[in-house]
Amino acid sequence: MRLILLGPPGAGKGTQATRVAERFEVPHIATGDLLRQIVAQETDLGREAKRYMDAGKLVPDGVVLQMLRDRLSQPDAQKGFLLDGFPRNRVQAEALDVMLAEVGHDIDAVVSIRVPDQEIIERISGRRSCPVCKRVYHTVSNPPANDGICDDDDAELVQREDDKPDVVQERLDVFHRQTAPLIEFYGDRELIRTIDGVGEVDEVSDRIAEALEGAGVS
Ligand code: AP5
Repeated sequence: MRLILLGPPGAGKGTQATRVAERFEVPHIATGDLLRQIVAQETDLGREAKRYMDAGKLVPDGVVLQMLRDRLSQPDAQKGFLLDGFPRNRVQAEALDVMLAEVGHDIDAVVSIRVPDQEIIERISGRRSCPVCKRVYHTVSNPPANDGICDDDDAELVQREDDKPDVVQERLDVFHRQTAPLIEFYGDRELIRTIDGVGEVDEVSDRIAEALEGAGVS
């Protein structure tokens, strides 16, 4: 199963990807998480990536493509994967096609999660995540049992650097300019299923499950 979750920042890709990946028993590969791991290593490459991420811009394609190629070559990704946050522009989408063609595979389905910009801004301003297990919460719609503390490992929850309002607006602009055209790119190949990302997390999961069934993926 080779799936892509497409959507603006804060659309719920990470939240939903965890569920879909569990259901299909494939790894959830999020380029944002992979990049944050590189940033945490404080290498020259990490420092360069951080400059782009903190400004809400895309990290250069060369860096992201090498990172993704390495991740897709790991044993656990051979039976399939769920991509979250990749591809983000046409160059990346075409490079992914080439990588998959080299091993005789293709994408099975692309789910596009649609959420209005105003809702995105509300979601992102309330997002908190666990620095240890990476679980994502929201201060209002998905709070932990104890304020500011992860339910799973008691770590103190943190807010992402790029979740500040001016950076969020830039990330939204980048999405509309560079990533949204991929809806047409995959639509031309009849791979895309668009779902409404507004509603309870469980409702959105049900819509994704239905969309995947409609695409013959179940
Ligand atoms: P990345 O980490 O991929 O961030 P993003 O795409 O901006 O997406 P987010 O993680 O912000 O949101 P999400 O859709 O996963 O939503 P979530 O589930 O957390 O990328 C960060 C940066 O890395 C980029 O800006 C770029 O610089 C770089 N980068 C990454 N990939 C790259 C690439 N391929 N090429 C170049 N650069 C790249 O949910 C958000 C909040 O809403 C949470 O608080 C959650 O609890 C809540 N929520 C979820 N669902 C619902 C719901 N149904 N109702 C209400 N609240 C909800």
